[in-house]
Amino acid sequence: MKIDVLTLFPEVFDGFMKTSIMGKAINDSIVDITLHNFRDYTLDKHQRVDDTPYGGGAGMVLQVEPIVRNIRAIKGYETATKILLTPGGIPHHQKEAVKLSKKEHIILICGHYEGFDERLVNYIDLELSIGDYVLNGGEVAAWVVIESVVRLLPGVLHNEESLTEESFERGLLEYPQYTKPPVFEGYDVPEVLRSGHHQNIEAFRHLKQLEKTKKNRPDLLEKKK
Ligand code: 6GU
Repeated sequence: MKIDVLTLFPEVFDGFMKTSIMGKAINDSIVDITLHNFRDYTLDKHQRVDDTPYGGGAGMVLQVEPIVRNIRAIKGYETATKILLTPGGIPHHQKEAVKLSKKEHIILICGHYEGFDERLVNYIDLELSIGDYVLNGGEVAAWVVIESVVRLLPGVLHNEESLTEESFERGLLEYPQYTKPPVFEGYDVPEVLRSGHHQNIEAFRHLKQLEKTKKNRPDLLEKKK
C-alpha cells in the first residue's frame, strides 16, 4: 500500500514511523509512506498557505491552491483515494479502517488553522474525523487512520486470528485478559481461566464482553439489537 501525507508539519510523523509494528511494516515494504509539506507548493512569495475568510469571521482558512498543486505532483493521484482529515468529516470507525486497508493508494490531507477552503471537496473523495472533539490540526488524526489501516494489511501482525477477535469487529468490546502472576496484591485471576475447560472459558469471556460493553459502550449494544 502506498500512503502520501500532505501536512505543514511532516516532522511530527518521524517518531510514529519508528514504532515497532509500523517500523517493521515500512521496512518490509508492506507500506510505503511519503510525507509532503504543501507549503512547498504555494505560489505566494511569502510562502503563505492560508488567508482570511470571505464573509468575515475569526481565524485563518487554508487555501485550496497549494493543496491541489501538491496532490497533482503525486504520481498516480488520479486513482488514489484522497482523504481530508477534519473534525467535520464522517466518523472513522473500524469499518472504515477495513475498507481503506483494501485500497492500493491513499492520500491523506491534514487540515490546520480554523478550516479549509470548501472548494477543496471537489478534489477529494472523503472527509474523515476521528471523534467529537477539536484538534489543532489533522496530523494526529492522520496517524490514527494510518495505524488503524496498516495493522490490517497482510503480514503486519503475526496472529491473523487476533484480528478477527478484536474489539468492534463483532460489535462488542474485548473480553478482559490476564497473565502471571495468578494473584497480585490479593487480586486473583478468575479461576475458570485456569481450569482448562474451553467451553466454560468461552462462555465466561462472552459474558464479560457483554458486561463491559453494557458498562462502557451501551450505544454499541443498542446498535447490535
Ligand atoms: Cl480529522 N482534525 C482535527 N483538526 N480535529 C479533529 C479531527 C480531525 N477529528 C477529530 N477532531
